[in-house]
Amino acid sequence: MKLSAEQKERVEELLAQMTLEEKIGQMNLESPSIVGGFDVPFEELIEMMTDGRLSKEEFQKIMSTAQRDYHEDDIRAGMVGAMMADDPRKNNELQKIAVEESRLGIPMLTGFDVIHGLRTVYPIAIAEAGTFDPELFERTAHLAARESRAHGINWNFAPMIDVARDSRWGRVSEGPGEDPYLGSTFARAKIRGLQSDTSDTADYVAACLKHYVAYGACESGRDYNTTSMSVSQLHNVYLPTFKAAVEEGAATAMAAFNDLNGVPCTVNPYTLRTILKDLYGLPGFVVSDANGIKECVAHGIAEDEKDAGCQAVNAGLDMDMGTHIYKDHLKQAVEDGRVSMDVLDDAVRRILSVKMWLGLFENPYVPEDVIRLYEQSGLPEADVQTAREAAEKSIVLLKNENGILPLSRGQKISLVGTLAADAKEVCGAWAMSWKEEDCVSILDGLKKSGADLAYYPCGGPEGELNEEEIRRACADSDVIVAVVGELCSMSGEASSKADITLPGKQRELLEKLLASGKPVVTVLMNGRPLALGWEAEHLPVIVEAWHLGIEMGNAVANVLFGDVNPSGKLASSFPSVSGQCPMYYNHPSTGRPGSNSKFTSRYLDAPHEALYPFGHGLSYTTFAYEELHVEEQSDCLHVNVSVKNTGDHTGTETVQLYMQDVTASLVRPVKELRGFAKVELQPGEEKRVELTLKKAEMGFYDNQGQYVKEDGLFRIYVGGNSRDCLCEEIRVKF
Ligand code: NOJ
Repeated sequence: MKLSAEQKERVEELLAQMTLEEKIGQMNLESPSIVGGFDVPFEELIEMMTDGRLSKEEFQKIMSTAQRDYHEDDIRAGMVGAMMADDPRKNNELQKIAVEESRLGIPMLTGFDVIHGLRTVYPIAIAEAGTFDPELFERTAHLAARESRAHGINWNFAPMIDVARDSRWGRVSEGPGEDPYLGSTFARAKIRGLQSDTSDTADYVAACLKHYVAYGACESGRDYNTTSMSVSQLHNVYLPTFKAAVEEGAATAMAAFNDLNGVPCTVNPYTLRTILKDLYGLPGFVVSDANGIKECVAHGIAEDEKDAGCQAVNAGLDMDMGTHIYKDHLKQAVEDGRVSMDVLDDAVRRILSVKMWLGLFENPYVPEDVIRLYEQSGLPEADVQTAREAAEKSIVLLKNENGILPLSRGQKISLVGTLAADAKEVCGAWAMSWKEEDCVSILDGLKKSGADLAYYPCGGPEGELNEEEIRRACADSDVIVAVVGELCSMSGEASSKADITLPGKQRELLEKLLASGKPVVTVLMNGRPLALGWEAEHLPVIVEAWHLGIEMGNAVANVLFGDVNPSGKLASSFPSVSGQCPMYYNHPSTGRPGSNSKFTSRYLDAPHEALYPFGHGLSYTTFAYEELHVEEQSDCLHVNVSVKNTGDHTGTETVQLYMQDVTASLVRPVKELRGFAKVELQPGEEKRVELTLKKAEMGFYDNQGQYVKEDGLFRIYVGGNSRDCLCEEIRVKF
């Protein structure tokens, strides 16, 4: 986000004309309140739907019948800086009040949770990250930005870039997985997609980086729980995605709910001001998460709401989401001298700058013909195609014994599992604006692709099994395709789990299907890595299909029939049992690395390693790696390797480059991703793949938060996943 000198001047002129109340008004993010019968703020309703307290149908019913208070009088009085809503006509109507009826005519920002698409829903982030495809990350974000603008949304509460290593945390679904390098690549691409095409206001939105910071490190994977870590871990693991996104120009950020080393992120001057604004240079503003300021009272860090508000604004938190604490208390706080005008002006300047950069002063409304286009023609075909491509590329083949996959269209299939037919379950936890008519279930996708199939629901993530349906599914088929996993409401916000094995009676269902002696193809629909120890041991085929968005069914069908050769990789390690969490490949070296002997870092009752490690993902073909060469140059290492397609299908491999700093002044990870490249190979074809590792990226942050590069021995690994790699050692001088 960059402003011209003229735009900066206009911001200053405006600021000079504003009253104290009008300044505070800019710092207030409103959401429509539902009035009559259901008196909770809109944003809480959304949370209730997200965490499963309300079903999507109940939510939609409330929304269609309830009356809403859009705080028009407050808008008129200049007391609303931003609004949270997704209806284009309503957004135009409210914006008109702000522009034409408020004293200074300052347009509002309209913010919304467009995490992996609005109405066109793409795969959840943990799935999309596994494509290792920055061009795709950027494209889906750009299409989402355009779709948002067409709905009057100019500020997306995305990307969610929390590194997450504990799959008990339900929000692993929303982010790019466990690795800071992949996460940073994802973050940069998302910012480019959302923000870089600024020639027409229809093409870009302001991004909002969240949840800043270390939210993914919540203790025991329980949402909203405390986080504590060393300075070096914060800088090496949890900050890099945010740093990368700000370098790419990200406009705004959202403070996380958690406390970090005892200070809630909402009121943390070290993370908000010192790091995010002063060190990284965030050009826009920081918003709280919903009710975040008020929660500082419950954290026991603020005496009352006013105190929480003062601490937040002084720490660098510019906008209040979900409470009216700034609106109700900041004026008094300024008058009492607890908050200075400089602090306030800095916050308002940042907010106005984002509005100016978005072109809202010139183009505050969604053009009527754009609204009509969406109303009449549905989703643009190009967006749907991209949703399908993203879904296909996100699918990860975890296991494929005896070449059971791909299926052929002549085979008679029994399709099993309630999830298989449920078009409402394809979009994942943080998608709200999809329409069922756009969503393709696996059943529909298979039918459309010409499968010879019969469908037997048999059972799902909840409820009992239907024995008769199981009997029939087993009796009359050549192959059984079992779709099992989690409901969307089982991951996402406030959906942490202590047991991350397949929920309900689905394992029992799989056992019964296996007992038929028929080949069983298991397709997983889920929002988090599951503990699949039993499944990996007993099932011949496992396809990880996540929640893939509106095109899920078509994508799964194309992969099962081999029209698309799977190429997705895991952005997050899968454990065998839940008790292994947190589970991640890039853990610090221990003095006693886990092995079969007793006094090592291991479990008595479970493996110490991942079942399926970060970066794992099979193809219908196989790839062989040979002849790794590493050569030192003045500012980088040149790494090249030969990759050969040794099977009989054309396939795409993601070649992954890891490094290990073998001896350092701090304990370093056993491996760290530092690059990747995708290569498509015909059967029998071999290519040399070149990768570059910049020396500038071979260091680490120490416990003073300083980036250091230390001469010495490094190991360079290259392979198709984080476990199975070729290795070369090299001494490096910086
Ligand atoms: C709470 C969530 O933590 C955040 O991700 C979301 O953007 C806000 N609510 C607004 O819905």
